[in-house]
Amino acid sequence: MKLLVLNGPNLNMLGIREPDIYGKGTYEDLVELIREHCGTKGIEVSFQQSNHEGDLVTYIQQAYFDKVDGIVINPGAYTHTSVALLDALKAVSIPAVEVHISKVDERESFRQISYVSYYCEKTITGKGFMGYIEACDHLADKLK
Ligand code: DQA
Repeated sequence: MKLLVLNGPNLNMLGIREPDIYGKGTYEDLVELIREHCGTKGIEVSFQQSNHEGDLVTYIQQAYFDKVDGIVINPGAYTHTSVALLDALKAVSIPAVEVHISKVDERESFRQISYVSYYCEKTITGKGFMGYIEACDHLADKLK
């Protein structure tokens, strides 16, 4: 089983960026945590992060050609604006879980809409880095 973990804008700044909201762990720490967890479960996992919406669309499309079985996606701020990411997920029709590190539902009103949630089968918020682990496990259980 092959999973893609896709992170959007500013998630490369984890550890520096608003640590009171996103924690002190870096993007590299996040990748290591997921890689280790997936390793113990025999899940093949790859990672992409971009600050550019079009790149994220391309990574989702590429997942189709790479025969990825599941996508874990944190679109960052594009969560709240991007119909293009929603359409890309619909186009490839790969099972996907949406993750947010912070408790988005308790934050500003402009964060209350998520376009990708119209496609994703599950949304996990406010669990920090462990949300990604839960998302991987969910997809692994479903796809087994
Ligand atoms: C985020 C929440 C978004 O509102 C924000 O724009 C982010 C990170 C999260 O992981 O909590 O960049 O997706």
